[in-house]
Amino acid sequence: MGIRKIVTIGDDTLRKVCRKQEKFDLRLAVLLRDMADTMYKAEGVGLAAPQVGILRRVAVVDVTEDHTGLVEMVNPEIVEREGTQTGREGCLSVPGRQGVVTRPMKVRVRFQDRKGNWMEMETEGFEARAVCHELDHLDGRMYIDVMDRELTKEEIEGHIPEDDAQ
Ligand code: NI
Repeated sequence: MGIRKIVTIGDDTLRKVCRKQEKFDLRLAVLLRDMADTMYKAEGVGLAAPQVGILRRVAVVDVTEDHTGLVEMVNPEIVEREGTQTGREGCLSVPGRQGVVTRPMKVRVRFQDRKGNWMEMETEGFEARAVCHELDHLDGRMYIDVMDRELTKEEIEGHIPEDDAQ
């Protein structure tokens, strides 16, 4: 297992636009494995390469509780968006905070796998939210830039009206 250090807000790395991943080699495979390990250890549902200090267009998402839903995305882009959803969101690079963010309900995302094959995935609900959140990281954007409002400490622990909409 390769657990990498997650950079947190205030670090310039999180604000850079990442470069395209050009090589589909062992180094990329190791990065993807380490990113998944790091995400699972931190109990997150997604992680983008700049969060571990790598300015490349690479991200992982897994919204399942038993870690069976890993999606590895290289050079991803959203090609279709549909509807909206409003709900709570957090980020491993913004520890201890949460906000309410409006995202598309459904997205179609095009990306390359670790071997360079192009794929398309359609997803909705919480996974679509996670995909949008991670792709934003690749352009130096974070949820705190686009949130409707920030939650208070009490709201983070408790129920908020937006939870009912999920
Ligand atoms: Ni994040």
